[in-house]
Amino acid sequence: MTVQDPFGQHIETVLERHLPPPSPPLKIIHEAMRYAVLGGGKRFRPRLVYASAHLFGISQDLADFPATAVEFVHAYSLIHDDLPSMDNDDFRRGRPSCHRAFSEAIAILAGDALQARAFAVLSHIPGTLAEPAAIVDATRFFAEACGSTGLVGGQTLDLDPQHQPQTLGELKDMHERKTGALIRAAILLPYLLASQRTSDERNRLDRMAQALGLAFQIRDDILDATADPETLGRAPGGDESRGRATFVTLLGLHEAHRALEETLATCQSALAGFGTRSGMLASLVSNLSLSAGRESRSPKRPRG
Ligand code: IPE
Ligand code: IPE
Ligand code: MG
Ligand code: MG
Ligand code: MG
Repeated sequence: MTVQDPFGQHIETVLERHLPPPSPPLKIIHEAMRYAVLGGGKRFRPRLVYASAHLFGISQDLADFPATAVEFVHAYSLIHDDLPSMDNDDFRRGRPSCHRAFSEAIAILAGDALQARAFAVLSHIPGTLAEPAAIVDATRFFAEACGSTGLVGGQTLDLDPQHQPQTLGELKDMHERKTGALIRAAILLPYLLASQRTSDERNRLDRMAQALGLAFQIRDDILDATADPETLGRAPGGDESRGRATFVTLLGLHEAHRALEETLATCQSALAGFGTRSGMLASLVSNLSLSAGRESRSPKRPRG
């Protein structure tokens, strides 16, 4: 563990611990699950869990459970997102996507199994670490985030060529579901598991979480249009070639950058009310900025 990245190695260890071993007769499916989860990635969502847990004085031992659950759902969602029937991406994180490394059938099943595993992990929180009623609440909230009004709903809207969002409101709605719902869950699960909390804290945290989910997908849209293949880990320009509505296609690159920075500022002002305890969350938020002065994180100068 380094001071700059206190959770980097810890997250890898915890994820690995919760994955089934790649041994017969289920070697192939467990290998595919491990390939998708342990193949890199920024681990943004588990980091959010630990940073939010810090706000409520939650132990790392407890935070490990929601951190693993959100990353497993994220990994499953990316396996399915890359499938030929969805985004048809052959690469993910600079390696063949799961259906390319294994087969389409195994990739679908690996995604299914990771989602189930996520709920198994969340529901295995020991009663010594959180109240059973809080675990049920958190699990229910997580299920809503993953389901047809959350992540799956957002993916459904994104895929439909006949009904691509035409207005900013429709686009935000889609982004808040497909990417925002899981990010919001990563931030709110520690609150739901906490014993010391106020409804005012929930409102502030939720405002921040919703803005952050939106910001994350605006940033993803900008990177799809501007980043080089090495940074992106796959071919850029996929959104445009698939005719998808994004912040870049709807607003143009310049306004998309502005929307990103404004949305990140909304996150920071919602966090300000938490005082110094929110330092970890605030730095995860500021790392998403693509504004001048942070060009090392902005792979290519925006066009226009
Ligand atoms: C990419 O998410 C897909 C979206 C939901 C926008 P990330 O950018 O967090 O992907 P990894 O985990 O770092 O590869
Ligand atoms: C993926 O969105 C969202 C989910 C997997 C829920 P994208 O399709 O924009 O993600 P990338 O750009 O392929 O990583
Ligand atoms: Mg997609
Ligand atoms: Mg995609
Ligand atoms: Mg994208």
